[in-house]
Amino acid sequence: MNWVGRDKAAIWHPFTPLEGVDDPLMITSAEGIYLHTEDGRKIIDAVSSWWVNLHGHSHPFIAEAIAKQASGLEHVIFAGFTHKPAIELAEALLSILPANQSKIFYSDNGSTSVEVALKMALQFWYNQGMEKKKIIAIDGAYHGDTFGSMSVGERSDFTKPFAKHLFDVDFIDFPRSDNEKEVFHQFQETVATGDIAAFIYEPLIQGASGMRMYSTTILNRLITHAQENNILCIADEVMTGFGRTGKLFASQYLTRSPDIMCLSKGITGGAMALGATSCTDKVIEAFRSKDLKQTFLHGHSYTANPIACAAGIASFKLLTDPYCQKNIDRITANHLAFVEKHKNAPVIKNIRSMGSILALEFKTDSDSSYFSELRNTLYPFFIEKDILLRPLGNLIYIIPPYIIQDEELSKIYRAIEEFLNLMPSHPS
Ligand SMILES: Cc1ncc(COP(=O)(O)O)c(C=O)c1O
Repeated sequence: MNWVGRDKAAIWHPFTPLEGVDDPLMITSAEGIYLHTEDGRKIIDAVSSWWVNLHGHSHPFIAEAIAKQASGLEHVIFAGFTHKPAIELAEALLSILPANQSKIFYSDNGSTSVEVALKMALQFWYNQGMEKKKIIAIDGAYHGDTFGSMSVGERSDFTKPFAKHLFDVDFIDFPRSDNEKEVFHQFQETVATGDIAAFIYEPLIQGASGMRMYSTTILNRLITHAQENNILCIADEVMTGFGRTGKLFASQYLTRSPDIMCLSKGITGGAMALGATSCTDKVIEAFRSKDLKQTFLHGHSYTANPIACAAGIASFKLLTDPYCQKNIDRITANHLAFVEKHKNAPVIKNIRSMGSILALEFKTDSDSSYFSELRNTLYPFFIEKDILLRPLGNLIYIIPPYIIQDEELSKIYRAIEEFLNLMPSHPS
């Protein structure tokens, strides 16, 4: 049996039906922005492999850090023990996070970083004898696939089979330019009911619901109102963190800083699985006790895995080198020019960008959800051109590794333009 046959016999892939889909592409190696297939193709990874890769694949500096760490200390239980990579990475993260963040709690992916944040927020109140039960979230949110993170996310076909098992959350409407006043009012009313432990949000861009962007003005107002009413604010920066939006963290565009932050994806440059949840002194103080009942009794076997932390430190060094910020600024400028060029195209419903993220929504007559038929045309169209884009329904987005060159970006833009020219002009 060939490799793909063996894959099909032994493996169940994420977000993938078991019938009626094309065979997976066999990747044998990856370098820079390119994924190399078994049959010699070089595919541009325009989505940074689920938004994790920052500096290109198989980056030698990160690979070397991983190899060195693996042959020294590969793993150790993180309760009662510690190690240099975990300490160094925590210090590095705190040096670039908003100044009010004071401690790092490690886990191993984005969903767990959110679980940790939610549990931290709920126990923060519990420890003080105030059992606040409710969380406020924003319509369309995606915070992960575990039960807590699903609960604070959009209820959809993805979560339907589990609907009865998700906890109650108060959702406010997604803030658009034409409803910010109403959304704020809705938020005020929800806050006034009391019993709210935390407000969780993807700052300025909701990723999985289609790179939906909203204004700093409304988010500042929501955070301010929440904090003035004793509600903990949780910024889920799993997607937006580590430079994606142009600044190191989207929260840095805002006047108020969150109480808790969730990090993953880019934290290791995309080389190793790692999650981190940071919090302020105020949060920590509620847990400062010898009493086990006041302790945060949460952990994962691979918490603060030294190899992952070593990859994180290497990625941090690359990220904070001025060369990286120059690349982010360059991609930002390219995206802005592309948006400007196509903002009035008749087949485009909306085109927008923020930092290294570009999103383009096509006009369709039918359903514009994740399950839109257009997806089935878009994905193969780009893959045949050796460009990996994973459409979300009628929307495509680019979120490339920062080392992508102008010519490579142009190749992606040209392919998109080709697709635009093939689309029949929309009646409206
Ligand atoms: C904002 C946000 N939070 C959490 C997650 C979950 O991360 P993971 O897939 O690592 O569990 C994602 C993943 O896309 C995300 O975009």
